Amino acid sequence: MSTQSQSAGEEVVKVEFENGVAWVTLNRPDKRNAMNPTLNARMHRVLDDLEANDDCKVLVLTGAGESFSAGMDLKEYFRETEAKGHIAVRRAQRDSYGWWRRLRWFEKPTIAMVNGWCFGGAFSPLFACDLAIAADEAQFGVSEINWGIIPGGNVTKVLADLMSQRDAMYYIMTGETFDGRKAAEMKIVNFSVPSDQLRSRVRALADNLMQKNPATLKAAKDAFRRVVEMPFDAAEDYLVVRQESLNYLDKTEGRKRGIKQFIDDKTYRPGLGAYERD
Ligand code: COA
Repeated sequence: MSTQSQSAGEEVVKVEFENGVAWVTLNRPDKRNAMNPTLNARMHRVLDDLEANDDCKVLVLTGAGESFSAGMDLKEYFRETEAKGHIAVRRAQRDSYGWWRRLRWFEKPTIAMVNGWCFGGAFSPLFACDLAIAADEAQFGVSEINWGIIPGGNVTKVLADLMSQRDAMYYIMTGETFDGRKAAEMKIVNFSVPSDQLRSRVRALADNLMQKNPATLKAAKDAFRRVVEMPFDAAEDYLVVRQESLNYLDKTEGRKRGIKQFIDDKTYRPGLGAYERD
């Protein structure tokens, strides 16, 4: 495993490469990986770099120590920024919302590995990742109500998209915590596993994704996020156009190779796995 070199601000986010996976670790364990302005600014650079780096085929987002992220930093993101005035608040919002948006439309597949505490604002990067696996023991909470704010940073919208109305309202209004198993039951994460299996299960999922055509993966995940917000006929048309643009963008002509390996060569079955790429 190799680690990126460190310079100012980089220590709040650690990036390690391991056979195609970029493990991106929010790295403020003493503060339970709360997101402060330094971390938010750093994540823009990290995402820019990884998008262009061929050593990153799948991005995994996780947290150092016992926490995924305790949400926004109440001291540095809220109190200290508010003390600087309205413009500083808007800038801090742009930085945090901005890297979550970048992550949502990231060029490569993304997996949230929820290893521990996941509170408030942390639901935004959780949602931004395409897939999510939690430790059974991880603890989640929409804790904003406990300190007198509503779930902003689009967390309310995230919950509306991920949860049933009853569940979302319950956790928004009570601030009760729930564990990784419950998160899996409510489909906030794909599944949960005992914490000692978390990394290997995420690794196995990443290995699965790496067998697929990367251009198709990007088109497929974007298409899903787009059509969720479209009327039926618009979605139908969009998917035709998106596939036709993929036919042009995929210089490996994966679709034709997949058909050939099944119909002519009889070397694989598309129902059971991916075609052989170079
Ligand atoms: N913002 C700023 N600082 C935070 C923080 C946050 N969201 N979450 C934790 N910290 C800091 C604490 O202030 C403490 O700092 P200190 O060592 O300088 O006193 C340190 O991290 C450890 O926190 P502590 O509460 O002692 O850890 P814990 O393991 O007992 O509890 C939590 C962990 C996550 C349950 C608890 O820290 C917490 O409730 N955090 C706030 C969660 C939240 O409501 N987030 C929503 C923000 S939108």
